[in-house]
Amino acid sequence: MHEDIEKVLIDEDVIQRRLAVLAEKVIADFDGKPMVAVALLKGAVLFVADLIRHIPLPMEFELLNVSSYHGGTKSSGEVLFLDQRQPDLHGKHVLLLDDILDTGLTMEAVTAKLKEQGAEEVKTCVLLAKDIPRDTVKEADYTGFVIGDEFVVGYGLDYQDRYRNLPYVGILKSSVIQS
Ligand code: PRP
Repeated sequence: MHEDIEKVLIDEDVIQRRLAVLAEKVIADFDGKPMVAVALLKGAVLFVADLIRHIPLPMEFELLNVSSYHGGTKSSGEVLFLDQRQPDLHGKHVLLLDDILDTGLTMEAVTAKLKEQGAEEVKTCVLLAKDIPRDTVKEADYTGFVIGDEFVVGYGLDYQDRYRNLPYVGILKSSVIQS
């Protein structure tokens, strides 16, 4: 285990087994539809790379660069769209993928944007969802794991752009987090 990690919350094997189950549900819902998987940078990258390998359907694949945390441990409340180019989604069924549903602002803002870009349907899929009340998106259509209201890193999730390459989801030692 990395020396900055207090505890492993979800280990590699458990993640991979859960992704296979999520993929079955996605396949059942998207089979026969013109599908586009849209993943949000940067946090969703590891999750999405593993998940879509379990989905043998024809699909297009897009990456969107959005940011709401701006490097800290709390959402800034503002979702920034950082791409110059936005995909044309007319008539497409979108699977919107992200690493974590926290305040839900990101999923809400991106879902609205994708519908503006012509998406016929947007279904949301997250690896993690915090078990907290939300005024925005109540829950994703597909959720890997529900976790407590704690700051987690690893498997794509960062603190100050570090720890994304850990193969598990873990809790950082409080001594590592700058107050
Ligand atoms: C994080 C995370 C989600 C979003 C969730 O992104 O990856 O996209 O915040 O928070 P919310 O539900 O409160 O909106 P971040 O801005 O840290 O970008 P990153 O993925 O590049 O780390």
